[in-house]
Amino acid sequence: MKLEWSERLETGHGLVDHQHRALLDAINDFDDALQAGVAPARIDEMLAFLERYAREHFHMEEFLMLRSYFPGMELHKDQHDRLVQRVTYIRDLRAQDPRLVPPEGLAAFLGDWLLNHILQWDMALFAHLREHPLD
Ligand SMILES: [Fe+2]
Ligand SMILES: [Fe+2]
Repeated sequence: MKLEWSERLETGHGLVDHQHRALLDAINDFDDALQAGVAPARIDEMLAFLERYAREHFHMEEFLMLRSYFPGMELHKDQHDRLVQRVTYIRDLRAQDPRLVPPEGLAAFLGDWLLNHILQWDMALFAHLREHPLD
């Protein structure tokens, strides 16, 4: 699996596009590390980084939603919260015993989530922002 950046993922918001690319790169790096068979501790470090970076990115989008009175905020924020909860849950389980959540499939799950989320949810937010630019 290699996630590829493409024009259809571009929101037109410089910082958000930068963060999306960084998330995509981090998921590709995570996948490479899994393929290379790195130590479980390194996998957990990478998951922790992904969670932290995703949280930061979600806060940024939620700030834009709030500032622009985005009507879909509640549902969109719910998608963010659910992903964070899922990753936190995976990390908690792995902290108990890494065998509880084998890493196979984690990168694909995160990659699918990111691409679908950008296309379905973020695009709606940025269409709204183009119509209601912030001053
Ligand atoms: Fe996003
Ligand atoms: Fe989002």
